Amino acid sequence: MWKCIAGTIIVGSVAYTLIKYFAGGVCHCTTRLDGLVIVITGASSGIGKALALELAQRGATLVLACRDVEKGLNAKTYILSQLKNKNIKIFVKHLDLCNISSIVKFSDTLNNEFSEIYGLVNNAGVFYHPQGLTKDGYEITLQTNYLGHFILTHHLLNLLKKSVHARIINLSSEAHRNVNIYDLKAVTKCQNEFRSHFVAYGVSKLALVLFTKELSKKLSNTNVIVNSANPGNVETKIFRNFPPLSNPWLYALQWPIRCLVVKSPKQGAQTVLHCLLTSNRSTGQYYSDCKLVLPSPIAANDKIAKEYYELTLEILSDWFTTESEC
Ligand SMILES: NC(=O)c1ccc[n+]([C@@H]2O[C@H](COP(=O)([O-])OP(=O)(O)OC[C@H]3O[C@@H](n4cnc5c(N)ncnc54)[C@H](OP(=O)(O)O)[C@@H]3O)[C@@H](O)[C@H]2O)c1
Ligand SMILES: *[C@@H]1O[C@H](CO)[C@@H](O)[C@H](O)[C@H]1NC(C)=O
Ligand SMILES: *[C@@H]1O[C@H](CO)[C@@H](O)[C@H](O)[C@H]1NC(C)=O
Ligand SMILES: *[C@@H]1O[C@H](CO)[C@@H](O)[C@H](O)[C@H]1NC(C)=O
Repeated sequence: MWKCIAGTIIVGSVAYTLIKYFAGGVCHCTTRLDGLVIVITGASSGIGKALALELAQRGATLVLACRDVEKGLNAKTYILSQLKNKNIKIFVKHLDLCNISSIVKFSDTLNNEFSEIYGLVNNAGVFYHPQGLTKDGYEITLQTNYLGHFILTHHLLNLLKKSVHARIINLSSEAHRNVNIYDLKAVTKCQNEFRSHFVAYGVSKLALVLFTKELSKKLSNTNVIVNSANPGNVETKIFRNFPPLSNPWLYALQWPIRCLVVKSPKQGAQTVLHCLLTSNRSTGQYYSDCKLVLPSPIAANDKIAKEYYELTLEILSDWFTTESEC
């Protein structure tokens, strides 16, 4: 009997400690965002949706940029149902990052309808997506996670510059550490150069950290600060194409462990939230668990960041006629 109770207590405390440990950092900033406009890409699900709720609770006006407007409207209904203040403004707008015309159209709408934007959260992303090219001719993971956000960010820069102290946050991932410079350049130069699902994802995320660095330099004399955030390991739909997790039987086997060590979307949103709220105005940095940490050596290299920025402009040359757009 006593053994049983002692056993339960020990197992319980170990589980509790593990859950607390893997839940990661929590954002304790109490800053209000009343009326400030924040754009979140991929806000229909997962981390984006959880983040949207946190921001709405702090008074922000939200633009949910979704490829599936229906799903976006459902997210809006859910968020409003959780809020005490029903006057929070939430706009759902169509944005398909795999379609550059759609990105341009989305940005034009925002430029017409808003006079300034406080925050842009480049959150939408795919993982382990089957290989393929978008209608614009770029590899799907690279365009969704990186190139699409590159174009979007540049089209919204003027609105961001009008805000007193704007912030751009790119959702990166620890996966950025797993790719080398050769893969990075090869995969970016040639859209048919598909090495593996992991390389495709890692490259897109390393690219985001490099861009954070280069863009922060280009914007150093403006009010806009730019950082990237790693949400950690979060239970979301991002794994829909990843066989070990999309297969229900394999998933069921891992479920007990995942309950302990994988974050909820709300927990996953904490680091991004921290980037948007912190009074620390350092720019061009990488945050993980609500703290500034060092990205991989490649991602921290200024020379590579500059070269990679030029390479991106080169492959997107049809969409960027002059450097003056930066
Ligand atoms: N979950 C993790 O463990 C983890 C770890 C590290 C980094 N991250 C990063 O966190 C971010 C959010 O992911 P999540 O885990 O919340 O995944 P998620 O639940 O799958 O959410 C991804 C969002 O991106 C949207 N999206 C995908 N392709 C798009 C496109 N072409 N145009 C516009 N929107 C598109 C999705 O729209 P639909 O709803 O229409 O599909 C969805 O709203 C991603 O950048 C991901 O790489 C996640
Ligand atoms: C791309 O977006 C444009 C502008 O919204 C739209 O007219 C076009 O039909 C879209 N193309 C595809 C293939 O989705
Ligand atoms: C975010 O990534 C985009 C490319 O996807 C890049 O253009 C932009 O400079 C990055 N912004 C920040 C704040 O890192
Ligand atoms: C931000 O925080 C870092 C690490 O805690 C610190 O070194 C840095 O001086 C701070 N920067 C600003 C601008 O507050």
